Amino acid sequence: MANVVVVGSQWGDEGKGKIVDWLSEQADVVVRFQGGHNAGHTLVIDGVSYKLSLLPSGVVRGKLSVIGNGVVIDPHALVAEMGRLAEQGVSVSPQTLKIADNATLILSLHRELDALRESAAAGTKIGTTKRGIGPAYEDKVGRRAIRVMDLANLQTLPAKIDRMLAHHNALRRGLGEPEIEASAIYDELASVADKVLPFMDTVWSLLDQRRRAGDRILFEGAQGALLDIDHGTYPFVTSSNTVAGQAATGSGLGPGAVSYVLGITKAYTTRVGEGPFPSEQDNEVGDFLGTRGHEFGTVTGRKRRCGWFDSVLVRQTVSTSGINGIALTKLDVLDGLDEIRICVAYELDGKRIEHLPASQGEQARVKPIYETLPGWKESTKGARSWAELPAQAVKYVRYVEELIGAPVTMLSTSPERDDTILVQNPFQD
Ligand code: GDP
Ligand code: IMO
Ligand code: MG
Repeated sequence: MANVVVVGSQWGDEGKGKIVDWLSEQADVVVRFQGGHNAGHTLVIDGVSYKLSLLPSGVVRGKLSVIGNGVVIDPHALVAEMGRLAEQGVSVSPQTLKIADNATLILSLHRELDALRESAAAGTKIGTTKRGIGPAYEDKVGRRAIRVMDLANLQTLPAKIDRMLAHHNALRRGLGEPEIEASAIYDELASVADKVLPFMDTVWSLLDQRRRAGDRILFEGAQGALLDIDHGTYPFVTSSNTVAGQAATGSGLGPGAVSYVLGITKAYTTRVGEGPFPSEQDNEVGDFLGTRGHEFGTVTGRKRRCGWFDSVLVRQTVSTSGINGIALTKLDVLDGLDEIRICVAYELDGKRIEHLPASQGEQARVKPIYETLPGWKESTKGARSWAELPAQAVKYVRYVEELIGAPVTMLSTSPERDDTILVQNPFQD
């Protein structure tokens, strides 16, 4: 029995959706374990594009899909996403989707607070997706959140809402915002309860049974390890743990349930929002990558910042997520470049260092040290075997493996599901 965790190894948008969709053919259950609808995972199947934010990518194949306790759920966004998928012919039923009873809900007040903070004075902006993710996790840790199971006990809601509002209204008074009436929150929750409750389940138990029965579980990470609340470029991070260890905590299984960690890794680097990005190319190279790679956010439509591959960061992620192998994506975007640079180390205050320091000030000061490789003129787009790759592209892939200390076990050469080269099957490790 082998269960695979897919995590982003950079700042998100590495192509996790495509790889999870590809792998989910071999899985019995697909589980989201952190984040929320800040994620935007794109699947392209026979030219048709599916965009998933909160639902596990396994729903498109009709696999049992689970939203674990570590996820923050905006119930209205959930219902809207199911509606959009239904229009595309993908049906989601209480038989195919299970939502953890102990997962935290995102309410409109979280969304509003997220947006208020983001529009505050320059310098404090994170560049969030304004989906209310951070404020919802704050309430979870602050022990005042409303959870999925609370929708099933409406009579207990008023006391919980009062507890939550005691905090939020104090905050809102300080921000000069009008206070929120408890009845407004109650109505917001009561209006959606019937739509969410049919999916509610005791997910930790369900997953334990499935695991014991020998089912293959595929854990679908959102964001990327550099957006991790502990290991990322704090404070320019998301509000959850995005590293592979969270797969266990965020679904209710023990750490032994995970047998292979697959790090999804873009052949260059992108980031959305604020924060350090040592190998960023705010020039014609960045424009080339952004245009060829269609680097616009799935969720917010924002232009993604682009730069060269940073092996220092991915090497660090291989360690913090315990990555066994990577799926290298978007290699085709590099086609046609005369030369390709790779960041191999940093210079900090005149010294060479081999990792990204934790300090915000030092992260802003590190200067990338590059090595330059020749590019290739041939197209790799849509390649489905190693033999179709030009020699220079193979050299690039091999050098990436050497620098990050992990093998390439999958290679993706276009957005399409089947334009994928399998080197070693993570389920059969
Ligand atoms: P995720 O958040 O990690 O699931 O990634 P996104 O879906 O936000 O962004 C990745 C984008 O790259 C999507 O538009 C994918 O369709 C696309 N994509 C994935 N793999 C490849 C690839 O190998 N080549 C190209 N050109 N595009 C890819
Ligand atoms: P997927 O799963 C890329 C970024 C935001 C912002 C920071 C905090 O598609 O890879 P948040 O709304 O989470 O509080 O924003 O995190 N961010 C992502 N960037 N891909 C994502 O998800 C992201 N989810 C959040 O842009 O910088
Ligand atoms: Mg994305």
